[in-house]
Amino acid sequence: MNTEIKMVDPDRIDQEIIDHAGDILKKGGLVAFPTETVYGLGGDALNPDASRKIYAAKGRPSDNPLIVHIADMDHLYPIVTDVPEQAKRLAEAYWPGPLTMIFPKTDKVPLETSGGLPTVAVRMPVHPVAAALIRAEGGYIAAPSANTSGRPSPTVARHVIEDLSGRIDMIIDSGPVNIGLESTIVDFTEDIPVILRPGYINKEMLEEVLGEVKIDPGILDANANKGIRPKAPGMRYRHYAPRCDLAVVEGSREAVVATINGLTEAAHAEGKKVGVIATDETRSLYVADDIRDIGSRSDDEEIARHLFEVLRDFDTDGVEVAFSESFETPRMGMAIMNRLLKAAGHHIIRC
Ligand code: TXA
Ligand code: MG
Repeated sequence: MNTEIKMVDPDRIDQEIIDHAGDILKKGGLVAFPTETVYGLGGDALNPDASRKIYAAKGRPSDNPLIVHIADMDHLYPIVTDVPEQAKRLAEAYWPGPLTMIFPKTDKVPLETSGGLPTVAVRMPVHPVAAALIRAEGGYIAAPSANTSGRPSPTVARHVIEDLSGRIDMIIDSGPVNIGLESTIVDFTEDIPVILRPGYINKEMLEEVLGEVKIDPGILDANANKGIRPKAPGMRYRHYAPRCDLAVVEGSREAVVATINGLTEAAHAEGKKVGVIATDETRSLYVADDIRDIGSRSDDEEIARHLFEVLRDFDTDGVEVAFSESFETPRMGMAIMNRLLKAAGHHIIRC
């Protein structure tokens, strides 16, 4: 399949390109597009064939449900049976934005889209190109992250091209995304709302609106949900993983640098190429081959924005062993560590 690639400037949207992409979606085709979190792989959420095509293009297990993207609040009600008061308040505070909510679904949403579940995940993105495309499509776009299943999510169109070129109809390139980690997912199907996936909208921001909020224990601990079926099926799969052997090193700054340099020398003795995920503050202290500065510790939004790109760069550069500093930062630390620990298969070295 020939994949059309079109640039759309988010500040001056070319409506002709958006309408063309909308037509492809209406006919059951697939279009990758930017959102504020990561690039998404879009298909008509109400068309079971389109959802099947999404799973096939990504190589994703079909029991891992898709998020339905809407652009207008009126479009929420036909696809869910109930919108709790708390969800309305959260939508008022953070929609459009990087927030996904889980509701019981109506029959309008095919089981192919919901991965066989009686619930549906809904998000209203704030990215102007995403919003324009959803409206051009007619209202409902199912979109997982536009990566091959298991790889880091795409934060620039180049990543989408690497993974999906030749497998989908069109890619809309609007430059790098803003946030770099996928949306926060909140489940409203239990008495107290539960964070199933941490993101830019953090626990404190949710609590400001909702009061008590629970955190799914599997978010940072690989063993917490052993034997329990995870609420977000996608959270159980190995994810975000670079091809190299990645470990996260935790401890004081000095201890982390010394430990990573010691491990680097040991890997060098075996003839291996070594990568390190460092910060502005530490980059000059390492002896590895491929030292990636992910940003400053004083700006964890920058760290979040660069994480997936750095993981992909290790693959491109043929890094065989990689070590990362740990990022228990106040604002986005939980979201960053959730993705990083998954990428490392929860391999943590404490020093
Ligand atoms: O930021 C985002 O949310 C991006 C952009 C493209 O919008 N999308 C995204 O989709 O991250 P995806 O498919 O890569 O991740 C969706 C996650 C998966 O972990 C999935 O299991 C969970 O949402 N999910 C979807 N529907 C669900 C449901 N009904 N109940 C529980 N979890 C659900
Ligand atoms: Mg994904």
